[in-house]
Amino acid sequence: MFKRIAFSVNGKAFNIEVDIRESLLELLRNHLGYTGAKKGCGVGECGACSVLIDGVPFDSCIYLAVWADGKAITTIEGVASKSGELSDVQKAYVDEGAVQCGFCTPGLVLTTTALAESGKEFTREELKRELSGHLCRCTGYQSILKAAEKSLD
Ligand code: FES
Ligand code: FES
Repeated sequence: MFKRIAFSVNGKAFNIEVDIRESLLELLRNHLGYTGAKKGCGVGECGACSVLIDGVPFDSCIYLAVWADGKAITTIEGVASKSGELSDVQKAYVDEGAVQCGFCTPGLVLTTTALAESGKEFTREELKRELSGHLCRCTGYQSILKAAEKSLD
């Protein structure tokens, strides 16, 4: 069964019919071409599929596409400027060497972006908690934490 929904991705408006059984991750990757969000676990454990929904990070693998009706979605493709200049958060991840295979990076950058845009201050322990929904098999997390701290400076 299909349902028509209206939403935006990185400011671009969509008004389309979606399969009510499909996840937002499947919609983004398989039908709309936004492949920045990755499928890791597929069950809400790893954060590789994270996107911002009205500015809040969600695991798009366990978020039904129909729930996106009326929402503004931000994917990693929408974070850099239109001319391609990396955002401050992206630059911090590069500068701190927090990107290796890159599979976890889109989700981490989006969650860090949401934290930076909140305007709040976070201790290292609080940052660890905020980023704990993201698993990285490469970096050992120290460089990720440094990049997040730099992003929030
Ligand atoms: Fe969604 Fe792992 S793929 S949380
Ligand atoms: Fe490889 Fe994080 S950089 S999973």
